[in-house]
Amino acid sequence: MAKSQTSFNCTACGASHSKWSGRCDACGEWNSIVEEAPLSSGPGAKSLGAKRGKTVALTDLSSTEAPPPRTTSAIAEFDRVLGGGLVPASAILVGGDPGIGKSTLLLQAAAALANAGLKAVYVTGEEASAQVRMRAQRLGLADAPVKLATETSLRDILTMLEAERPDVAVIDSIQTMWLDTVESAPGSVSQVRAAAHELTTFAKKRGMSVILVGHVTKEGQIAGPRVVEHMVDTVLYFEGERGHQFRILRAVKNRFGPADEIGVFEMTGMGLAEVANPSALFLAGREDPTPGSVVFAGIEGTRPLLCEIQALVAPTPHSQPRRSAVGWDGGRLAMILAVLEARCGVPFTGLDVYLNVAGGLRISEPAADLAVAAALLSAREDVALPRETVVFGEISLSGALRPAGQTENRLKEAGKLGFSAAITAAGAKPGPGAAVELKTWPDLPAFVGEMFGAG
Ligand code: TYD
Ligand code: MG
Repeated sequence: MAKSQTSFNCTACGASHSKWSGRCDACGEWNSIVEEAPLSSGPGAKSLGAKRGKTVALTDLSSTEAPPPRTTSAIAEFDRVLGGGLVPASAILVGGDPGIGKSTLLLQAAAALANAGLKAVYVTGEEASAQVRMRAQRLGLADAPVKLATETSLRDILTMLEAERPDVAVIDSIQTMWLDTVESAPGSVSQVRAAAHELTTFAKKRGMSVILVGHVTKEGQIAGPRVVEHMVDTVLYFEGERGHQFRILRAVKNRFGPADEIGVFEMTGMGLAEVANPSALFLAGREDPTPGSVVFAGIEGTRPLLCEIQALVAPTPHSQPRRSAVGWDGGRLAMILAVLEARCGVPFTGLDVYLNVAGGLRISEPAADLAVAAALLSAREDVALPRETVVFGEISLSGALRPAGQTENRLKEAGKLGFSAAITAAGAKPGPGAAVELKTWPDLPAFVGEMFGAG
């Protein structure tokens, strides 16, 4: 029997399967597996046999040469997410939903880096040059020394890069690029992978930094940016709600700096503007003390960030009450509801629960547990927390409260924004000279009893 010639790849996570199925075993995504022509090389191709390769040169870990310096652009939020500027010969992936502002950000970044003295090339496979020029004009960047190309053939692009030798090249987007050595269509897992591989190895060899744009795809035949995450040094995601003007550039992987660092931008008529004081932005428009509204003192990357957590609890006529969380993990919400019910005797049966992080922010810190619990209780009991109070702390399944890391930084930021008190776990270390009064509790039942008289 002839051996199967094609492979079945998942467009969400890139896993290869020997046959088609409706659901990818590796990532659990439905309807993401597509049939593709096999690669002529790489794992699964013919074995190397007895033929020898050339020897690989070995070097020591210690080196006398100093690493080439990073280049900082005029966009401080962009530099911060990269870990303090662009590292030479690095490969960066910028993922995000279509229309969120990736092209705008990277055109601005390319211009800023070009103005900082780097030779920058912007290659677009999505728009006509005239469109990009029009956008540059609108952003006030028409005079920036960025070179522009419209091309999708990677062979031609690499030839151009070889001749031009830029310091940084933006490829917008990796899903539009194609290699003539790969049989499948542009945007397929094989093409996207091969194109990213060619570009990153070229970048390392030639000492050029490459920034790849990757659209997050919801379904269908186009491979998502996750397929190339492992090949690049730095993975950034550009997030935000379409309805909000805030955009967050988040580092999820960084070989040259801290992961989880964020940069905050605002989409304006003149492109993306940096937000120097995000806490003030995320707390703007907060009304007088309202039941269900709590200010969480969080940490995003290396920076403290205050934001508002809102909860709404309402009786439901349905037997299955709704649990909805925007900007916070739904599973974590269920856990906190269960702890409130089991440990504090505060039931949420027959009640719809809605939780929302204001401003379109997404938080994943466990330190937000206590703020979420406080918002839920405040909404349920219809009692507002004192206005000048921030909340943070982790809740364990036993109902005990654990102090969160970086208490000092959180309190400093709260003090800066005019908050005078903080509710948190016993054992939190305020640090010297904290202007914010600490109110601590050892566990959730004690907190619930004293603040809300419930439980
Ligand atoms: P774009 O960068 O094209 O998104 P992506 O490359 O991620 O698909 O941005 C598209 C959106 O940004 C579009 O809806 C218009 C908006 N926008 C502004 O609001 N102001 C601007 O100055 C620019 C250039 C775009
Ligand atoms: Mg774009």
